[in-house]
Amino acid sequence: MRLRCRLNGEPFEAEVAGDALLLDVIREHGLTGTKEGCGVGVCGACSVLLDRDPVSSCLLLAGCARDREVWTVEGVARRFPEIVAAFSAHEGLQCGACTPGQAVMAAALKLRGHRPGEEEIRRFLAGNLCRCTGYRSIVDSVKAALDG
Ligand code: FES
Ligand code: FES
Repeated sequence: MRLRCRLNGEPFEAEVAGDALLLDVIREHGLTGTKEGCGVGVCGACSVLLDRDPVSSCLLLAGCARDREVWTVEGVARRFPEIVAAFSAHEGLQCGACTPGQAVMAAALKLRGHRPGEEEIRRFLAGNLCRCTGYRSIVDSVKAALDG
């Protein structure tokens, strides 16, 4: 099938199999910032924005993105440099495996246009697992990104 959508703000078109996953399609097109962790919708490493909402791209058929807008961490970093700056300033990463997903979630919160408190940020990030940081520095990073 022919997939046409917008990817990181640009028109995107590709021939994809009917059962192709969005995660695989975007990675095959060089956007390898989006990570495959669990592959079953549990870890959040593969999070991307579909229109304005975060989705697990390991669970989503690429065809579901037809005529919609997809933002990966690469586009998020260009669109919201304050997110990158906040994760750097607050040391919101260690190994970095979860970081693209966390950054995408921060972008989703920014697009909602309100300033959630710490508890709400923690709830929002609950599906994005991190094995390294203990989450304190991630929450601080997201808070700072929302203030930026
Ligand atoms: Fe998609 Fe873990 S790789 S949720
Ligand atoms: Fe290593 Fe989060 S920084 S999994």
